[in-house]
Amino acid sequence: MANPLVRVAGTGSCLPERRLTNAELAQMVDTTEDWILMRTGIRERRIAAAGEFTSDLAVRAGQVALEAAGVEPNDLDLILVATTTPDLVFPATATMVQRKLGAHYRQAPAFDIQAVCAGFVYAVTIAEKFILSGSCSRVLVIGAETFSRIVDWKDRSTCILFGDGAGAAVLTAAQGEEGSSGILSTHIYADGSYRDLLRVSGGISTGLQPGEDPRVSGVGFVQMRGNEVYKQAVKSMSAAIDDTLIMNGLERHHIDWLVPHQANIRIIESIAKRLEVGMEQVVVTVDRHGNTSAASVPLALDEAVRDGRIKRGDKVLLVAFGGGFTWGSVLIRW
Ligand code: UT7
Repeated sequence: MANPLVRVAGTGSCLPERRLTNAELAQMVDTTEDWILMRTGIRERRIAAAGEFTSDLAVRAGQVALEAAGVEPNDLDLILVATTTPDLVFPATATMVQRKLGAHYRQAPAFDIQAVCAGFVYAVTIAEKFILSGSCSRVLVIGAETFSRIVDWKDRSTCILFGDGAGAAVLTAAQGEEGSSGILSTHIYADGSYRDLLRVSGGISTGLQPGEDPRVSGVGFVQMRGNEVYKQAVKSMSAAIDDTLIMNGLERHHIDWLVPHQANIRIIESIAKRLEVGMEQVVVTVDRHGNTSAASVPLALDEAVRDGRIKRGDKVLLVAFGGGFTWGSVLIRW
């Protein structure tokens, strides 16, 4: 019997041109190329040009995903952008993406999702619910960031970690038998008690009182207690993976590809070890992209789809963790 399901019809990504290497960072702060590589696995990251915004990267990734899916912008009935670095406080980056894609004639809803590095997993989860409820049949989901704009470039413990980029997927409604391609399950979680371990201070929270001069208001930047975040990232992503396996009645060896959030190679290796998958089954981009927050999972997914590693029928497990804390997983039969 055919059941409604949600298919990933196409993926896409976009990286800014400029590469920032560890050697360049070693000229900017008190660090070394070796320290960065050994502690994080990062060799370089991309940095958006002046005047290049999150919506620009998002649009380019979205266009590639739409082309891969064979879907026209005006056929979309929902646009979701997961981002922590929107172009503006408002309007939502998703509405700017809608306009720049030329998808505005049909007036499909468009909104942003703020779950930091878990944003893409959150957005896919929301899109899946919209499709399964029958409200939508073609949804563009994008994770896009210009984290370089909110990094304190004098803080060596954070500025070496982050990069800019965007990844996208077009999700479509389908009907399928047992064993058909589609999303098998989605799982999202949050625990707001960890606010102070990873956050951006300033911005609205230190904003203006009536009568104050807006030109002196401070721009916020990332602050992180890396070591503590590290431990929670491993713990939470491992727990999300366990929940996913249990809900789907699967064993660890049933997973063909792990596509984890790309924050630190050591975190990725710990999760792979717990899942008992070899690193040859893990998609790794952290060496070239750094941590691109909500863009990291879709950037990695698109790379492995395009180079042919992920094949039809493979079980692909996306897992992410970010500020909040927020975390989650998505299991897809490709
Ligand atoms: O995307 C959301 C989730 N984010 C994450 O998952 C990030 C999780 N955290 C991490 O990836 C790691 O904790 C970091 C890469 C941020 C840091 O690595 P670590 O092995 O946890 O180092 P640490 O923070 O314990 O610092 C060790 C030492 C310290 O010096 P002392 O106190 O031992 O003398 C730091 O001051 O390394 C020092 N240090 C550096 N040294 C050279 C910190 N940053 C640097 C640096 N270069 N860039």
